[in-house]
Amino acid sequence: MSPIRIGRPVLAALVLALLARAVAGIAAAAVPAPPRYLAGGEGREIAGRACLMCHAATLITQQAKDSTGWEKTLAQMEKWGAPVTPAEHPKLHAYLWQHYGARTAR
Ligand code: HEC
Repeated sequence: MSPIRIGRPVLAALVLALLARAVAGIAAAAVPAPPRYLAGGEGREIAGRACLMCHAATLITQQAKDSTGWEKTLAQMEKWGAPVTPAEHPKLHAYLWQHYGARTAR
């Protein structure tokens, strides 16, 4: 059986491909995946009941909205059928803003 010969260009391409993968891995690690569960605190139960009936928590935990942004989203979700009572609305808004408020640039 003759040995398999790997030419220099092939070797160089292989090394480059491995390097590119390593760099991509580092870049991916720098952006953490959004938490899969809602943060604890007052308002979590309301969110768990009224928001997770339609979509995963990550849709909420990946957000960084200011107060107005959350107000708009909340109003939209309520219009779409999120069962939030008028008394729960300000509590839920405070919870969302506190935990998933606007972040400073990293
Ligand atoms: C009746 C189903 C339903 C309920 C209940 C619901 N959502 Fe949604 N939500 C959706 C759908 C559908 C989308 C996707 C809309 C799109 O892709 O533009 C969405 C998208 C979102 C988004 C991403 C878009 C944006 O506006 O930023 C956020 C954040 C969100 N929902 C938060 C909430 C919160 C908070 C609650 C609880 C108060 C909630 N949702 C309850 C159906 C629902």
